[in-house]
Amino acid sequence: MNTTVAVYDTKPYDRASLTRAEGAEQIAWRFLEFRLGPDAVHAAAGAHAVCVFVSDCASRPVLEKLVEYEVRLLALRCTGFNNVDLDAAKALGLAVTRVPIYSPYAVAEHVVALLLTLNRKIHRAYNRVREMNFALQGLVGFDLHGKTAGIIGTGKIGRITAQILRGFGMRVLAYDPAPSHAWAKQHAVEYVDSETLAAGSDVVSLHVPLTHETRHLIRRETLARMKPGAILINVSRGALIDTTALIEALKSGQLGGVALDVYEEEEGIFFEDLSGVVLQDDELARLLTFPNVLITSHQAFLTHEALSDIARTTVANLRALAAGQPFVEGSVLT
Ligand code: NAI
Repeated sequence: MNTTVAVYDTKPYDRASLTRAEGAEQIAWRFLEFRLGPDAVHAAAGAHAVCVFVSDCASRPVLEKLVEYEVRLLALRCTGFNNVDLDAAKALGLAVTRVPIYSPYAVAEHVVALLLTLNRKIHRAYNRVREMNFALQGLVGFDLHGKTAGIIGTGKIGRITAQILRGFGMRVLAYDPAPSHAWAKQHAVEYVDSETLAAGSDVVSLHVPLTHETRHLIRRETLARMKPGAILINVSRGALIDTTALIEALKSGQLGGVALDVYEEEEGIFFEDLSGVVLQDDELARLLTFPNVLITSHQAFLTHEALSDIARTTVANLRALAAGQPFVEGSVLT
């Protein structure tokens, strides 16, 4: 019998990459376009596994329902797992897997795309030229060469980002409670404490997972410590930044620019076409009014390579479930 999988929050690119992965034909796919949560969990009834993404809610009551429906695996098709109550999953005996690694280049290259766009005001230039406005006033940026970047979190993505920025001729400072000194030496990256990084960097980029400890890692005090006019980039998780404090720092001019691929309250907004409705989130609306704020809608992972890596690991885990074999190494959360 084929393994039946309820895939929540399915977008066309998910469907395409999952069904193209090796062994996908052995799976009975149930693609659902809505997100997992207390009101949507019933759609998993009869499935052997459930596949979710970053905005799905896998809270204790949801997990209890899944177990009641005899779902045996919750397979995350992403790296971060802050939306899953792992303690509850463990207590309920529900297996949870994620995709521990997929093209870190996809995410790191998006950081650089955001940085170059924001600094050189490409987003504004693009619109101007389309309106036949060929004036350059207000489009002055700065050379990255010779400036200092601060990388917070030197895991897979932070390291690639650091290496790319070294290629621009930037000095790179890094902070990580678990530093990798050999890597730093190889790429001439300097580990410093978080205060030194904040005070000394022209560009700060966040590459840490969202946990209880890292929630609001960037808040009023941290922002005040940063170099005036610095650029802050977050492609990791929205709640790493206190949005209210961020808006204050933009209004006061303390920050020179902000590029976000993630937002504290992105659930229900990012990934959706809301162009015909009134945006209810006042802080996001305010952020969108700043000329020096650039926002993309959680798309840093969106390359062909990353999508096929994600599909390969996810399908391998679904097939392992059916065959009673071990899950992909490094992907097991419970
Ligand atoms: P990783 O697990 O390889 O690295 C995370 C690093 O953060 C580790 O070296 C860890 O020691 C460090 N760290 C933990 N707490 C810290 C703290 N308080 N200060 C400084 N460093 C700290 O993770 P990876 O693969 O590099 O991904 C990072 C994050 O990027 C993920 O957790 C996920 O939230 C986000 N992400 C976003 C994507 C997007 O499409 N926007 C796609 C993929 C990941």
